[in-house]
Amino acid sequence: AYVVTDGCIRCKYMDCVSVCPVDCFYAGENMLVIQPDECIDCGVCEPECPAAAIVPDTDPRAAAWTALNAEYAAKWPNITEKGAPPDDADAWNGKGDKAALFSP
Ligand code: SF4
Ligand code: F3S
Repeated sequence: AYVVTDGCIRCKYMDCVSVCPVDCFYAGENMLVIQPDECIDCGVCEPECPAAAIVPDTDPRAAAWTALNAEYAAKWPNITEKGAPPDDADAWNGKGDKAALFSP
């Protein structure tokens, strides 16, 4: 499966939602996650993310986020349409490690 990493936190652009053929994104307050059993590994979301936050689970960058995606996909609501990103999304794009900003 593909995995949303901390690059999404406070960016939450949601371009990924528009392209996912199986609607397997789930939305928290400041990031999205992917439900790993629903993801069909098509890979189309990866290049769509302006924050480069989505990686395959084989990527070393996914390691710290794989379990979190599964856990919160079971808790957060499904999202099937792109909404408005945060007003300051661009200011958070590329800000390095944003793990401490995760909002459960
Ligand atoms: Fe959806 Fe494909 Fe991305 Fe998986 S890899 S989340 S199926 S767009
Ligand atoms: Fe997040 Fe990128 Fe989607 S910032 S909401 S993973 S387009």
